[in-house]
Amino acid sequence: MTSDMKWIEVNSYDEMSEVAADIFTKQLQAKPTSILGLATGGSPVGMYKELVKRQQAGNISFNDVITFNLDEYVGLEQSSPASYWTFMHENLFNYVDIKEENIHLPNGKAENLDAECVAYDARIKEAGGIDLQLLGIGVNGHIGFNEPGTSFDSKTNIVELTESTRTENAIYFDDFKDVPTHAITMGIQSIMNAKEIVLIAFGEKKLEAIEKLKSGIITEDFPASQLLNHPNVTIIYGGTK
Ligand code: F6R
Repeated sequence: MTSDMKWIEVNSYDEMSEVAADIFTKQLQAKPTSILGLATGGSPVGMYKELVKRQQAGNISFNDVITFNLDEYVGLEQSSPASYWTFMHENLFNYVDIKEENIHLPNGKAENLDAECVAYDARIKEAGGIDLQLLGIGVNGHIGFNEPGTSFDSKTNIVELTESTRTENAIYFDDFKDVPTHAITMGIQSIMNAKEIVLIAFGEKKLEAIEKLKSGIITEDFPASQLLNHPNVTIIYGGTK
């Protein structure tokens, strides 16, 4: 494999969270006006907890930080308990000194969703581009909501969620039928524009995806594989035999 990808194997979810938090801490200390790309899901919860602790201890500040989240469901109100807006506030934003106007998530309730997609990429560009992007990975290799088969050239776009992704995400809803069918997500190209990327994955379920990434084969059938073409990616992973 000729990729520069950096691999860090960890022994626990907590260790993964700390190692990832260390990278974000360094970034914020070196550049307090950082533009961060953030993710939702189970993987980053521990890292966000760690960043909250560090901010409250005065080691880092989000005062001048601007954030862009990867994705949001189409059709959910911001205030919906299952929206990614709510997730981010409950896991990070409510507990740190970030300014509300510096928080960005795609608007899944926009009247013109196509225009919202174009505007989201433009907002990222205007802000100066993402310095450090956090990613999780789906069991099928998705990053953001970019499912297998997505073009590597994709910008922020509207996607129909696969049955497997809707099933994985059903835990956040009362009923499977309430899981939205569509989402708005940063595209693979939008993600690749970040100056640095950290992907975190822990647990047996992620084994196959991590092994596939390690194999070094780059294909649109496995969206995360495009990261092998990025010059500054760290994969923090573990819990796999
Ligand atoms: C979240 C996102 C997704 C998740 C992925 C892993 O904003 O875009 O790609 O990162 O589905 O989810 P978890 O961490 O719940 O296993």
